[in-house]
Amino acid sequence: MMLPTLAHERVVSTVGRRSGLPMTVAVHSTALGTALGGCRLWSYEQWGDGLADAMRLSAAMTLKCAVAGLATGGGKSVIALRPGQVLTPEERRKAFLDLGDLVESFEGAYRTAEDVGTSTADILVVRERTEYAIGLPADRGGIGEPAAPTAAGVYASVQTTLDRLGLETADLRVTVIGLGQVGSRVAQALADEGAALTVTDLDPARRAFAEKIGAEWVPLADAMTRPTDVVVPAGVGGLLTAEAIAALDCKAVVGPANNQLADADGDEQLAERGILWAPDFVVNAGGALAAILTELEGLPPAEVDARIAGIGRTLADIYDTASADGVTPQQAAVRIAERRLADAASGALPVMQGVES
Ligand SMILES: NC(=O)c1ccc[n+]([C@@H]2O[C@H](COP(=O)([O-])OP(=O)(O)OC[C@H]3O[C@@H](n4cnc5c(N)ncnc54)[C@H](O)[C@@H]3O)[C@@H](O)[C@H]2O)c1
Repeated sequence: MMLPTLAHERVVSTVGRRSGLPMTVAVHSTALGTALGGCRLWSYEQWGDGLADAMRLSAAMTLKCAVAGLATGGGKSVIALRPGQVLTPEERRKAFLDLGDLVESFEGAYRTAEDVGTSTADILVVRERTEYAIGLPADRGGIGEPAAPTAAGVYASVQTTLDRLGLETADLRVTVIGLGQVGSRVAQALADEGAALTVTDLDPARRAFAEKIGAEWVPLADAMTRPTDVVVPAGVGGLLTAEAIAALDCKAVVGPANNQLADADGDEQLAERGILWAPDFVVNAGGALAAILTELEGLPPAEVDARIAGIGRTLADIYDTASADGVTPQQAAVRIAERRLADAASGALPVMQGVES
């Protein structure tokens, strides 16, 4: 599904000179602007798995930024830990100084940010070595934790999907899988509007939150097969395997988890079952939008909120294009992204800042 016509522009893997940790920066595309993508600090069996992750996730960032209408390209970084490896504060600091040097070596083609396993404090360390990092703490002029704007984009996407299905939030049955930073906010917002919630999480400690919002807690294994209207995947990616899709009993899947489809044709498998799937890279763009519009473009909060709410309209356009062209929402979103990238290549869009073309 990933923009097959585009190869990555530049990928560098190295071993941090202070930390000794393998790390990768993958720049997929700068056609629309400096590539943006968070840094994932994660454990991998092989460091090359981290490289593959960076490549896959950076391509998804190109799509995400293009569809969201941002003058931003797609990139990603990964610091690969060994299974079970835990960094001391000193090792962690070294890792992010090393990442800062690696980002700086891209001379403005790539900007990093927070992602799975990293925090705003880590971004401050990166900033000691390069200015190309966003997602600063709120008291340093940044947006702080991006989960709130991400959740707002998910909420807007759920509303658009309900419109499409002819459902109201108050009558909605919704299953939220993963009650972390984003999932818990989305679950809370939907519960506040009267939706009937079923929830689960790998972490049994999240059960207390489920009780607080009046949601029914189900075992992980049952969450995907429960009859419901909308499933919101908000844990890790790869949840939608062929087996899981075959067992779903819902009308739509709309959630923030990155790379939800386990197979390249997962969108078609969902369409064949008559299940509306909102592409994850559209639904979860709120955090990136907030960081870019706040920290790079200096827009006031009300304008940023309006742009995040606009994710719902973007998704409506995608559903319209999908219906009109007889393709899946993902194929429609990729078409929209490819059109923007082609316009940029032909000079029809303003040229990016910070990188020579
Ligand atoms: N935080 C953001 O702003 C943001 C932005 C874009 C995309 N995302 C994506 O959204 C997802 C959620 O992000 P988050 O910040 O809430 O993460 P988080 O780490 O705060 O929460 C994830 C939660 O999901 C649970 N979980 C993990 N795998 C699970 C599984 N298979 N089944 C059930 N529960 C599972 C975890 O125990 C945790 O409670 C991730 O895939 C992330 O990449 C987040």
